[in-house]
Amino acid sequence: MNMPTENKPESLAEKRILLLIGGGIAAYKSLELIRRLKERGASVTPVLTAAGEEFVTPLSVSALAEQKVYRSLFDYDDEVEMGHIQLSRKADLLVVAPATADLMAKAAAGIASDLATTLLLATDKPALLAPAMNVRMWEHVATQRNYNRLLQDGIKFVGPAEGEMACGEYGPGRMAEVEEICLAIGDHFSASPRINKRVIVTSGPTRESIDPVRYISNRSSGAQGTAIAQALISRGVEVVFVSGPSAIPPPVGVHYIPVETAREMDAAVNQALPADAAVFAAAVADWRARSTGAQKLKKATQKIPQLDLIENPDILAGVAKRQKHRPKLVVGFAAETEDIEIHAQQKLKQKACDWIVANDVSVNSGIVGGKDNAVTLVRSDGLERWPSMSKLEVGNRLADRILAVLNE
Ligand code: CTP
Repeated sequence: MNMPTENKPESLAEKRILLLIGGGIAAYKSLELIRRLKERGASVTPVLTAAGEEFVTPLSVSALAEQKVYRSLFDYDDEVEMGHIQLSRKADLLVVAPATADLMAKAAAGIASDLATTLLLATDKPALLAPAMNVRMWEHVATQRNYNRLLQDGIKFVGPAEGEMACGEYGPGRMAEVEEICLAIGDHFSASPRINKRVIVTSGPTRESIDPVRYISNRSSGAQGTAIAQALISRGVEVVFVSGPSAIPPPVGVHYIPVETAREMDAAVNQALPADAAVFAAAVADWRARSTGAQKLKKATQKIPQLDLIENPDILAGVAKRQKHRPKLVVGFAAETEDIEIHAQQKLKQKACDWIVANDVSVNSGIVGGKDNAVTLVRSDGLERWPSMSKLEVGNRLADRILAVLNE
């Protein structure tokens, strides 16, 4: 990935961006976005939705873009000049900023009810969305469903950020800053060319229901698994990212399979085979409740409940011991609070994997939920103690080691 320096923004020379401006207060930032993209050498063809026009004027948009602004699906002159299908295809990338809840819902459902949504449906080019909406709207189950649907459809996202909103509320929903959107666009164009390797990465915690409102889970944030997936993607690997619930968005460009329970994760991983390698960074709940009540357990009508637990499938061991479709390299993690390397060596043997990345998850280590990680790479032929480094660096180093083996 080309890292832009502070003084010299990444060049987007000759890149053609079709910018769809949705109707939200953040639409004013789209004017700045046009300027920054043009500074980097991109050409910007703007499309303003009817709602977008309530926030910014067509005149200011077209003056900054130095291009005509497209506004309606049924404009006779526009259609004669350039049909909407052609408009959707002549760009290198479609950027939607702000992407409102309404635009996301329509895109997820494949609805083409105006020019912007028709362009999203008709295009054969990638799309990057910068969501912006009220925090409740962002967190609403319908928007989250649409977001996951769009991620699975291969749509890329930048943001939303967390912070104070125009409506006075606080939380995730603010549109990403213009600089961040430019960086995401730059990353899109500078991504390494695809190499012919496919890696499955599990990440995050799993959740096992006790009743409709309670569950068993753990403190995993998903940061290390996300960093590994990110490092592999930036090396051109096709990544299937199977993740339990995590507040960290999946990296741009992965094939994302969201799951909740260990059994869902197990099914998703096995369905994703064959793969060249599999990395099991998820903190899978070892046990689940034998039976889960359809109704909430009530305090008043019950004695203190005794949880009857049964063991979850060991996903890593299951894949490592497969006869058919065993990946060339199977990498497990060992989350330990004591005798880390001894336990990791035992796990390597018991689970029949090739490597174990062992880490200290004792409360004092600060690793769970933190930015850094100190790991030991345990192989059957020896140990490698890595110094403390960021989870991103652990991801990069591990990705390099994995590719070295896959390219042997
Ligand atoms: N793992 C898995 N499926 C499980 C449990 C663990 O795939 N049901 C994987 C984890 O993703 C990790 C490795 O096995 O790569 C070790 O996980 P860890 O929690 O450290 O070990 P456990 O097998 O759960 O053993 P223990 O809790 O006794 O340390």
